[in-house]
Amino acid sequence: MSYVPPPRPTTDTGQMPPARLYGADFARDPHGLYARLRSRWGPIAPVEVGPGVPAWLVLGYQEALAVARNVELFSSDARHWHATAGGRLPQDSPLLPMVGPRPALTRQDGPAHLRLRQTVLDVLQRIDRQRLRRVTATAADALIDAWLQHGQADLVGRFARPVASLAFTRLLGIRDSDGETLHTLVSKVVDSASEARAADHDLQASLLRLIDARRTNPAEDIPSWLLQTAAGLSEAELVHQLTVLVLTGLESTTGLIGNTLVHLLSRPRLLAAVAAGRSTVSDALELALWADPPVHNVAARWATSDLTFAGRRIQRGDVLVLALAAANADPAAHHGTNSPTPTVNRAHLAWGAGPHACPARDPARLIAESAVERLLLRVPAMRLAVEPTALLWRPSPWARALTALPVHFPPTAPPPRPVPEPEPETAPLKPAENEDPDETGRKPRTTNWAWWSLDL
Ligand code: HEM
Repeated sequence: MSYVPPPRPTTDTGQMPPARLYGADFARDPHGLYARLRSRWGPIAPVEVGPGVPAWLVLGYQEALAVARNVELFSSDARHWHATAGGRLPQDSPLLPMVGPRPALTRQDGPAHLRLRQTVLDVLQRIDRQRLRRVTATAADALIDAWLQHGQADLVGRFARPVASLAFTRLLGIRDSDGETLHTLVSKVVDSASEARAADHDLQASLLRLIDARRTNPAEDIPSWLLQTAAGLSEAELVHQLTVLVLTGLESTTGLIGNTLVHLLSRPRLLAAVAAGRSTVSDALELALWADPPVHNVAARWATSDLTFAGRRIQRGDVLVLALAAANADPAAHHGTNSPTPTVNRAHLAWGAGPHACPARDPARLIAESAVERLLLRVPAMRLAVEPTALLWRPSPWARALTALPVHFPPTAPPPRPVPEPEPETAPLKPAENEDPDETGRKPRTTNWAWWSLDL
C-alpha cells in the first residue's frame, strides 16, 4: 500500500462554489458528494449547509473524532457562530432550530453540559426496557396486521415511522393518535424545511403543555421523570431538554429502522443469513449504522479561536459539521482496505463521540431491533418493489432517512389478536378546541432567539 501524503495546507476555499449539503442532488447521492469532496479537499472541505451559509464538513474519521472530543477548540455553543453573533443569519432562517443556540444540553460545553446531560441520563435510566420492547413489538404487529393481506406495503409510511412514533408516544405519555402530529413537526425541523421555525415553535408549545400537565398529574413517563430529576432547571431548560430528546430521538430511530431494512432488503445474502440464524438483526443494524447512519451530519461545532486544522485555516466562529457517514467510509479508518463495512464491529461514529455522544443508544437499539425482528418474523418473504437506486431519500442536510420503502410479499390473512393493552393515562399534546391559544402555550413562554445574544 503506497503512502499518500496529507493535503498541503491552504487558505483558499477554491474557485468553485462550495458544494451544497442540501437539496435534491445532495439527497440523491450524499456518498458520491462526500467521496468527491474527500478527493478534492482531503479530510475537511468547505460546503454550504443552506443557501449562502458556509461551513466546514469534517469527512475524516480521525478528524471527526478529534473535533467531537476537543471541546476547548470546538464548542457546541452556537453563540460562537459569527453568522448568528454578527446578525448575518436571518432570525427566520430554517437552519436555526437545528443549528442555532438553545438552552439545552446539545448546545452547552463543560460543566453546563454535564449538568443538563445528567438529567437526561437519569431520565433514560428509568425507561422500563421490557415494557418498551413489548410496546414496540405490539405496535409492530398491529401495523403489520393492517397491510399483511394486501401483498404490498410502504415500510416507511406504514411501519418504520408509525412504530417509532408509537414507541415515543408511550415514552412521552401522550395519546397514540398524537404520534403522527409529533412526527410531522419533528420531520419539518430536521429537514430544515421552510416551515422549520414554525414547527419548532409548535413543538415547544406542545411539550410545554405536556410538562405543565405532568406537574399536577405525574405518571410513569419522560416528562414526569424530567420534572422529578431536574429540580434545578428553569422552565426554558426543561422545555428545550424535552424538545431535544424528541428531535434527536424520534427521527433518528425512524431512520435506524428504515435504513436497517433497506440495508437488509438490498443484500439478499445478508437477509438470508439473518433468516437462517447465521447472522442477527443486531448485526444488520450495526452494518447499517456503518453504511448509512441516520444522523449523517451532526450540527454542529464552532471554532473557539483561529487555527489550522487538517491542513485548513479555520477562523474563530466558523461552523464545523461532523460528517459521520463520510467518517465511517473514510478509507483511512479501514486500514487502507477501502472497504466501508468490513466487519460487524461498533467502532463507527453513528452515535457521535466525545462528551455529546448519544446517551440513548440502548433504548434506540432496542426499539429498532424489536421492530425489525418482528417484521422479519411476520413477513419473511418480502422483497423490494423497486431497485435500490430508485429509492427516494429525505432532503435533510442532517438526517438520512427514506421517504418511502415499497416492498411486496405473498398476501396472508392476519391472525386473530387478543384485545390490545389499553393506552396508559395520557396528557394532551394539542390545545383543546375551546382553549385560548395565548393562554395554552401555543405562544411558548420560553424560547426566543434573542437567547443567543447573552454574553459568552
Ligand atoms: C431513543 C432515541 C434517542 C434519543 C432519546 C436520543 C437522544 C440524544 C440526545 C439527548 C443527544 C444529545 C447528547 C448531548 O448533547 O450530550 C443525542 C446525541 C446524539 N444522538 Fe441520539 N438519541 C436517540 C436515538 C439516536 C439514534 C437512533 C441515533 C443514530 C444512530 C442517534 C445519534 C446521535 C448522535 C450522532 C448524537 C451526537 C450529537 C453531537 O455530537 O452533538 N441518536 N441523542
